[in-house]
Formats: sequence, C-alpha cells, structure tokens
Amino acid sequence: MKAVILFGSPRKKGNTIQLVQALTDALIKKGYSFHILYLNDLNIRPCQGCYACLKDGSCKINDDMKKVRKYIMESDIIVYATPIYWFGPSAQLKLAIDRSIAFMDSDYNSRIAGKKAITLITFADNNADTCQPTKDIFKKTFDLLKLNYKGGVEVPGCIDGEEIKESYKKKINKLADALL
Ligand SMILES: Cc1cc2nc3c(=O)[nH]c(=O)nc-3n(C[C@H](O)[C@H](O)[C@H](O)COP(=O)(O)O)c2cc1C
Repeated sequence: MKAVILFGSPRKKGNTIQLVQALTDALIKKGYSFHILYLNDLNIRPCQGCYACLKDGSCKINDDMKKVRKYIMESDIIVYATPIYWFGPSAQLKLAIDRSIAFMDSDYNSRIAGKKAITLITFADNNADTCQPTKDIFKKTFDLLKLNYKGGVEVPGCIDGEEIKESYKKKINKLADALL
C-alpha cells in the first residue's frame, strides 16, 4: 500500500509534523510506502474556476499540482495533515483541496473513488470544538470525492515547542491498524 501525505503546515519542525512522524513510523512497520508533499514548498496556484478539468481531469494551470495529482493517483491512502488556521485548514492545504475539483468528471463522479483518507489536525485552543468546522470540510469533501474516510486524530492545546502527548501517538497507531 502507498500513502501520500498532504502536509499543510509551513513548519517542518512544529506540531503537525509530529503527528505525521507517528503515522509514518506506523506505516513503515506495516511495510507501506509513503511520500510527504510539503505543500508550502510547492507552487500551487488558486483554482481559477474554469471547470476545464471536468472533461478529462487535466488542469489548465501548469504548476506543482501536477505533482500532487500524480502522487494522489498512485496512492491508496491520502493523508490530510494541517494546523488549524482561523478555524479552517491552512491555506496551503486549502489550495490543494480547491484544485481537487480536477478529480471530478463532468457528471461529478469522482476519479479517485475508494481511496482511503486520514486526517491529522493540530490547534492551540483547548476547546475541541475549534476544529469542528475543519472536520466538517473534510467530511463533506471526502463524501463528494467518494473517499473512504478511515478517521483522524485531532490534538488541541498545541503550544509551540512542546512534544505531542503519547496518547495521541497511540491513537495514530490504532488508525494505522485500521487501514486494511
Ligand atoms: C495564522 C494562524 C492562525 C491560527 N488559527 C488558529 C485557530 O483558529 N484556532 C486555534 O486553536 N489555533 C490556531 N492557530 C494555532 C495553530 O493551529 C497551532 O499552533 C498548530 O499546532 C500549529 O501547527 P504547526 O506547528 O504544525 O504549524 C493559528 C496559528 C496561526 C499561525
């Protein structure tokens, strides 16, 4: 099994990467391969809303979304990893989600139906409700794209420079166990 991780934080040594690290450790143990796409390093332009992609899946914009698309098409599992920015996913990840319109066809059938999806979310607030709008966006997105949502781990109270608690890493291991 192959996984692609859409990494939405600009910080490669922050909180969200710790969840990704826990997941990739678990995936390695299972013999899965994975690729992390650091979206902040990629040139991904905003969707221009032309709908040209619905015809054959190819986007008119010639940028790094081609690379994202290639990895998504080749993968069995798509991991959406993001900090909460103003109650939503980071702009880096939202750009890739908007451009995912190219995974729909003219009848709004999904070209990536059946692939598995996982979400990893960190945020500073201690109130768990803070990530609910983001969870709702993911759920509705996965419903439309006909992705098989395998669950997620959300970590509140993420203060800079602190290590993520072991209990969350255990949750991530369980998530990896449930992937088959
Ligand atoms: C621009 C910006 C907006 C943020 N908005 C929220 C927010 O709405 N709610 C919240 O709880 N935390 C918010 N945070 C805090 C981050 O979600 C949190 O620190 C996260 O764990 C950072 O992840 P990272 O270290 O992987 O970048 C925000 C941080 C930034 C920089």
